[in-house]
Amino acid sequence: MHNDIKEVLISEEEIQQKILELGATLSEDYKGRNPLVICVLKGAFVFMADLVKRIEVPLEIDFMAVSSYGASTKSSGVVKIVKDLDVSVEDRDVLIVEDIIDSGLTLSYLIEILHGRNAKSVRVVTLFDKPSGRTVNLEADYTGFNIPDAFIVGYGLDYAEHYRNLPYIGILKPEIYSS
Ligand code: PRP
Ligand code: MN
Ligand code: MG
Repeated sequence: MHNDIKEVLISEEEIQQKILELGATLSEDYKGRNPLVICVLKGAFVFMADLVKRIEVPLEIDFMAVSSYGASTKSSGVVKIVKDLDVSVEDRDVLIVEDIIDSGLTLSYLIEILHGRNAKSVRVVTLFDKPSGRTVNLEADYTGFNIPDAFIVGYGLDYAEHYRNLPYIGILKPEIYSS
């Protein structure tokens, strides 16, 4: 285990098992629909890579980079598009892939943008959900795990851009982000 991690909250095996289940559900729900699967960079890149391998329907992928946290542990409330999509979402069944929903601000902003661009449908799959953090009314269509109110890192999730490469979800030692 990484030295800055206090505790492993969700193991690599649990994550991979959950992704198998999500992939099976999504394969069923998107049968015959050629969805456009959008990865919300940077946090969702690890989940995206593992998830699309488990979705057994023809699909396309694209990437969008937005940021609301910066180097803080709290959302700033300001969502910034850092990189936009390459393709049009018009008349597409869009599936947004997120690593975690906290306040809900990032996704409510993204969903609004994609509807404004005339997507046929917009759904969200998130691996983690922290319902206690919500400031806007937003629910994912597909959720992997509910997470308690702790600052977690790993499997794509960062603190000040570190720890994204951990294959599990860990709780950071408090001295790491309070110093
Ligand atoms: C994190 C996370 C989600 C978002 C969730 O991204 O990856 O995208 O915050 O928080 P919210 O529901 O309160 O909006 P972040 O802004 O840290 O950018 P990153 O993905 O590049 O780490
Ligand atoms: Mn993110
Ligand atoms: Mg982040």
